[in-house]
Amino acid sequence: MRSALLNIMVQAATKAGRSLSKDFGEVENLQVSLKGPADFVSNADRRAEQIVFEELKKARPTYSFLGEEGTEVKGTDGQHRWIVDPLDGTTNFLHSVPMFAVAIALERGDEIVASVIYNPVMDELYTAEKGGGAWLNDRKRLRVANRRHLADALLVTGINSRGRPEDLHQLKQLAHVTPAVAGIRRTGSASTDLAWVASGRFDAYWEAGLAPWDVAPGLLLVREAGGTISDQAGKPGAIWTGNVLAGNETIHGQLSKLLQSVK
Ligand code: IPD
Ligand code: CA
Ligand code: CA
Repeated sequence: MRSALLNIMVQAATKAGRSLSKDFGEVENLQVSLKGPADFVSNADRRAEQIVFEELKKARPTYSFLGEEGTEVKGTDGQHRWIVDPLDGTTNFLHSVPMFAVAIALERGDEIVASVIYNPVMDELYTAEKGGGAWLNDRKRLRVANRRHLADALLVTGINSRGRPEDLHQLKQLAHVTPAVAGIRRTGSASTDLAWVASGRFDAYWEAGLAPWDVAPGLLLVREAGGTISDQAGKPGAIWTGNVLAGNETIHGQLSKLLQSVK
């Protein structure tokens, strides 16, 4: 049974997800147009944020709100804040690749206490509440994978290409890590990456240059699935530094060492 709080979050995520699903169908038609679907996708993104915002505000009018698409509201409740990415995986969405999610986290004080990540095309709903475990579609309790050797591990990462110094560092990391593991994937949706570490599909995930709404929802899922999440050096604060490493404790430790050896 979901708590009242998770119900509110699921309601918001699935409503926004339905809107994105409808728009996703339209994007497929727009691929062939000369201008492409870029403006259409920006509107879909903003629409999804508005839906999430309104749903959450209706249920918890005093909470603060921080959304990627620009909604920032300071509520009268000084303790609670929603952190929201209404469409995580925008480039996928733009190209009709069905790998994207609505991601919502609730911050209480300085910790994340509830999370929802919803992929409407796959109909995968990931939920977690502090102390209550991490779940897929309310039925399956999630555990991180149990592999002990980096050589057997399937990893996932994000490759940013904004011409920043950390982007080049990422390429060096890839050159180092690739020969040491079973495989590396790139989904294009950070919250999906973290949800799939929580579910054991991926053994570990690392990336840098992320925003709080990319990291906060998945952080709690990974923890509640028994995983370890920190920055790449093993320090806390990944939500705010955008530098992330997640996996089971053993693989997390091994990968942290390897990543830090890349200068
Ligand atoms: C992006 C995705 C991607 C990550 C980028 C993010 P967006 O979010 O999560 O996987 O590599 O750094 O910005 O723009 O699709 O919401
Ligand atoms: Ca994002
Ligand atoms: Ca986004």
